[in-house]
Amino acid sequence: MDKIAVTGGKPLEGTIEISGAKNACLTLMPAALLTDQPLTLTNAPRLADIQTMTELLASLGCEVASLSDGRVIALNTGGINNHTAHYDIVRKMRASILVLGPMLAREGQARVSLPGGCAIGARPVDLHLKGLEALGAELSLEDGYVDARAPNGLNGAVFEFPFVSVGATENLLMAASLAKGTTVLKNAAREPEIGDLAGCLSAMGAQIDGAGTSEITIEGVEVLRGCTHRVLSDRVELGTYMLAPAITGGAVTLKGGSRDLVGALIEKLEQSDIAVEDVPGGLHVRRRNGVIRPLRVTTEPFPGFPTDLQAQMMALLTLATGESVIEEHIFENRFMHVPELARMGAEIEVHGGAAHIHGVEALRGAPVMATDLRASVSLILAGLAAEGETVLSRVYHLDRGYERVEEKLSACGAKIERIKGD
Ligand code: UD1
Repeated sequence: MDKIAVTGGKPLEGTIEISGAKNACLTLMPAALLTDQPLTLTNAPRLADIQTMTELLASLGCEVASLSDGRVIALNTGGINNHTAHYDIVRKMRASILVLGPMLAREGQARVSLPGGCAIGARPVDLHLKGLEALGAELSLEDGYVDARAPNGLNGAVFEFPFVSVGATENLLMAASLAKGTTVLKNAAREPEIGDLAGCLSAMGAQIDGAGTSEITIEGVEVLRGCTHRVLSDRVELGTYMLAPAITGGAVTLKGGSRDLVGALIEKLEQSDIAVEDVPGGLHVRRRNGVIRPLRVTTEPFPGFPTDLQAQMMALLTLATGESVIEEHIFENRFMHVPELARMGAEIEVHGGAAHIHGVEALRGAPVMATDLRASVSLILAGLAAEGETVLSRVYHLDRGYERVEEKLSACGAKIERIKGD
């Protein structure tokens, strides 16, 4: 298995190009199941998770071609010839559940294994299932599979999410696009990826109003057509690389970044004395005066501070001038990076859902282990600032969500390299 070695201590200077959003692409690809016409996605990221979704869709009968060196994904679901999403593929990635809504809406039947993904808490899919039931699906759970049927099609309904779920909002948005009548989704997620999906579905002929707000209205249509859609920029990759010059010092331009994707992060960075400026085509980040001020951060659904940047923010705050507090409100087991950061000299105590981070003068390089996708990149950030060498193992977590991380960072002067394993 590959490892990544980072020798810290160099301020970063340069430009990083932000890729298309993994999480947007993972919900746009299943939208191809809604139509028998071609759907083409441009600005796609080249990541292990995209490969997993490709395998899953191919197993259902969708033809998937990767063009322009993986930057363009051409999907064509002339017919769905298998209605079962098997455990072998689904267990690798939780977003696999996103094939359920579209397949059910188009075919009136779908069987999907309960998903796996990052080990960051229980992560059930009950809201996806309740929402589809509200649209008239008959569901049963058997041998770890959800068996969903709607022999006469889905029917529009009013459904209120008891709490915000990005994936369940996406699944229902896709399903409702082909349901009979009007669906109103209340307390819907407002993440930019929802807006991106709604934009693509609208280009396919769906009638959607209110995406990006907490109430989305969908007028079902009989058929959807194909389209070409550009995947929006990855706000988590953007935020991660904004934190790189924040933690190492120096200044980096993030090409393709925009303020509206990372408003909550910018607010916190500015409180911490990190300057973020708009530049043509992107954002520019630099540390103002050498000091990182401590912060209180609470993760919340968009537009709040994203849980997917919590671990990276914690890496920054390990070097702040005082005590910071991070409260994790989205996932109950998302502090697995804490013991790894502690191996590098960080001082962090966790009480329930809150981490108290006592800033230290310096971190020391150490062998560390990636435990999940975002935790792994937080250890790279910490390694960039630490004295000496950090070697990160279990890099496959990182490869699920970050494209060419070592190339992007070394272009800014970081000493980082991949050590190829067996
Ligand atoms: C998506 C993102 C993930 C991000 C998360 C929160 C993708 C592919 N992944 O995940 O990177 O961390 O949003 O911003 O887009 N929940 C339930 N029942 C459900 C659904 C969710 O209890 O049916 C819970 C989850 O366990 C979690 C919370 O709701 O505690 C939010 O999860 P959700 O917004 O659904 O996250 P995902 O869509 O899985």
